[in-house]
Amino acid sequence: MSLETYHTLRKTPVKGGFLYTKPGARGLNNPAYELLAEALEPHGQEAVDLNPGIGLVAHSLHQHGLNVRAIETSRASLRCLEASFGSAVRVARGLPWETEPDSVDLVAMVLPASRGTRYVELSLLGAARALRVGGRLWIAGSKDKGFEHYFKMAQSLLGYGVLVRRNGAFRVAVLEKEQPAPEVPPVWQSFDWEFSGEALHFSYLPGVFSGGQLDPGSAMLLLELPHDLGRVLDIGGGYGALSRPLVGRAQSLTLLEDDWVSVLSAQKNLGELATVLHSDVDEALTEGQTFTTIVSNPPFHVGGLVVLETATAFIEAAYARLERGGKFYLVANRFLPYEPLLEARFATVRTVAVKSHKVLMAQKLG
Ligand SMILES: C[S@@+](CC[C@H](N)C(=O)[O-])C[C@H]1O[C@@H](n2cnc3c(N)ncnc32)[C@H](O)[C@@H]1O
Repeated sequence: MSLETYHTLRKTPVKGGFLYTKPGARGLNNPAYELLAEALEPHGQEAVDLNPGIGLVAHSLHQHGLNVRAIETSRASLRCLEASFGSAVRVARGLPWETEPDSVDLVAMVLPASRGTRYVELSLLGAARALRVGGRLWIAGSKDKGFEHYFKMAQSLLGYGVLVRRNGAFRVAVLEKEQPAPEVPPVWQSFDWEFSGEALHFSYLPGVFSGGQLDPGSAMLLLELPHDLGRVLDIGGGYGALSRPLVGRAQSLTLLEDDWVSVLSAQKNLGELATVLHSDVDEALTEGQTFTTIVSNPPFHVGGLVVLETATAFIEAAYARLERGGKFYLVANRFLPYEPLLEARFATVRTVAVKSHKVLMAQKLG
C-alpha cells in the first residue's frame, strides 16, 4: 500500500449514515463496537465515549439524540472522528481517566483490553468519575479478553449491573452509578536501565508499549546503530526507548507517535532533547522534511489483530523521509515479511543481526 493510500480517509457506510475510516484506525469490523452500537439505549442528555476508535458507538449515541463527546488517544482514529463528525460530536484528544467528574448521564466504552489491565482499570475509573450518580455505563468486550473480570470491577466501582447482549465471545453490559467514585491514584510509573555505560531513567503511563522494561527487539536495534547518526527520526517512538539513548549521537531527534499516552510519556522522558509529535505515521511532519537516519520498531498489532498495513506505511514513510544516502534501521519479529517491502524501495537492504528478533538496514540511493 502506498503512503498516499495509507493517509486517505474513506467514506464507509454504517447504519444511518457513514463514517470516515482509514488504515491504522480502530473500531471498524470489530464485533465489540458493532454490538455496543446496536445495544445501547439513551439515558439523560450528556454522553461520552471513552474509546471511540472511528466512532461507531459515538455515532449511535448521536443518532439517539444525545450530546456526545468522543475522547480518543490515537491520532489515526482522531483523524477519522474529526472528518466524520464536524461539530455534531465534540471530538477531543485526551486520557480516559482525566474526565470531568460528575458531568455526564451516560458513558459508553469498548473495553481497551489490548492496552493491559491497568489501562482498563483506569479507564473504568474515569468512566465512573465522569458519571453523575444515577448515570449509566455501557461496556462491551470479549470474554476471552477479561470481560467478566472488568464487569465485576465496574460493578464494585459503580453498583448494580446487568449483562444485556451476547454474541459469540462478545458481551455488552450496562451499570448504574449508585455511589461516588474514588479519586484517580497516581498514574506515572518509572524504571531504570543502563545503555553504553549511561544510567537512563524512564517514566511512562499505563498502556504504552513495553512499559517497565526495554523491549528486547529495541535493545537489539540500539546495539546495531553507528555512532554518528546526523538528523534522526524515530517512527512509532513509544515512550522514547530508542530516542533517549541516541541523544548524544544525533544532531537532532524527532519522534513520531500515534498514541497520546505514549506521546506524553516520551515528552516527559525527552523534554527539550527531542521534538515529540502526535502523528499518524509521518502526517505531522512538514512537506520535504528529511533525515539522515530513521529508526523504528514498527507495530504489528492494532486492537489485538496482526496488521501489516501500518508497518508498511512506516517503511514507505521512511523511504520518503530519508535524504539521499540515508539509512533506515528497523527491528522486527523474525517471522514478519519486511524484506520484500524494503527491497521494493531501497537500493540496499541488509540483515545486520538475527537473534530473538532481526535488525534490517535499508539505504536510499546516494
Ligand atoms: C512496537 S512499538 C515500539 C515503541 C518504541 N519505539 C520502543 O521501541 O519501545 C510501536 C509503536 O508504534 C506506535 N504506532 C502505532 N501506529 C502508529 C501510527 N499510525 N503512527 C505512529 N506511531 C504508531 C505504537 O503506539 C507504538 O508505540
